[in-house]
Amino acid sequence: MEQNVNSDVLDKLTKVCICKGITRAAIKTAIKNGAQTVKEVQKVTGAGGGACKGKRCTEKIQKLLSEFKIG
Ligand code: FES
Repeated sequence: MEQNVNSDVLDKLTKVCICKGITRAAIKTAIKNGAQTVKEVQKVTGAGGGACKGKRCTEKIQKLLSEFKIG
């Protein structure tokens, strides 16, 4: 339980997309809500639309998808 609380807090503090300030929590929510691909996650969260055009965040989104994607 405590472990979960800590990881929830970390998810809210950790920026996956630095350019747009999108947190890991936001990415996970998008995946939970059914986003299946990097493109879909980017579309609903706005991640990847920053100055680096996804250079720094695409790989991290991909990794989160492979860990948390439903189905
Ligand atoms: S870190 Fe996501 S667009 Fe630059």
